[in-house]
Amino acid sequence: MKGVVLAGGLGTRLRPLTSVTNKHLLPVYNQPMIYYPIQTLVNAGITDIMVVTGGNSAGDFLRLLGNGKAFGLKRMNYAYQEGEGGIADALSLVEHFAAEEPVCVVLGDNIIEGNILSAVTAYRQQGGGAKIILKKVPDPQRFGVPRLDGNKVISIDEKPSVPQSDFAVIGIYMYDGKVYDIIRDLIPSGRGELEITDVNNAYIARNQMTWEELEGWWTDAGTFESLLHASRLVAETGANKLTMKIGS
Ligand code: DAU
Repeated sequence: MKGVVLAGGLGTRLRPLTSVTNKHLLPVYNQPMIYYPIQTLVNAGITDIMVVTGGNSAGDFLRLLGNGKAFGLKRMNYAYQEGEGGIADALSLVEHFAAEEPVCVVLGDNIIEGNILSAVTAYRQQGGGAKIILKKVPDPQRFGVPRLDGNKVISIDEKPSVPQSDFAVIGIYMYDGKVYDIIRDLIPSGRGELEITDVNNAYIARNQMTWEELEGWWTDAGTFESLLHASRLVAETGANKLTMKIGS
């Protein structure tokens, strides 16, 4: 299984912090934001990783991350997203790297306290399709929100004004090699982006979607409030410290 960190987009909600740099290079307490999603993948035993970035400071990722030595990696892969075509557009750039293998995708501004190892292990055994991870939040209207029928996710609404549950779909997704065909069939949303929620709804329509609830805290860091909140959470409780020993 390959790992993908999506760190493109223009981070407009964080201007002027993002006027001359990429959102994912900003500090979250004592580390650059991009460190956390990479650690999430490495802690789940995923070590073949591609970072998709964009904007003007793309070269800074290479300077910061190099071959991934800080994470015990020997190699890091990079792709460049032109413009801000959306999360699914950024994901389409990893097709060649993934080479039919399943991928675990982490949004570059998503930070978790714990580990996704159990979800990744369950997905590996599922034999195809997709998996999403849910977390109960006080403000679901900011996120993708699942509609549940008992234990089944029947659809996902992107930033609904009237949320149908108090869960958010967090920015960690697992997909099989069919995801690129699904993305090719997407049409841009009202905000002009290829939406990851449309990808997830396509898997739900095919009856090929499973989900798990995340243990421990989760936050995004794409607004002033959530960036501050993320730094506080990391400072007070620690985040997903690098726990996996490569090669073990
Ligand atoms: O944080 C979880 C939420 O992320 C989900 O609940 C939503 O369903 C999902 O749409 C997304 O919502 P946001 O509107 O908060 O996503 P945002 O535009 O902030 O993008 C999140 C990350 O995705 C960003 O840090 C980098 C990456 N991205 C985004 C865009 C728009 C790209 O790589 N390229 C892009 O063009």
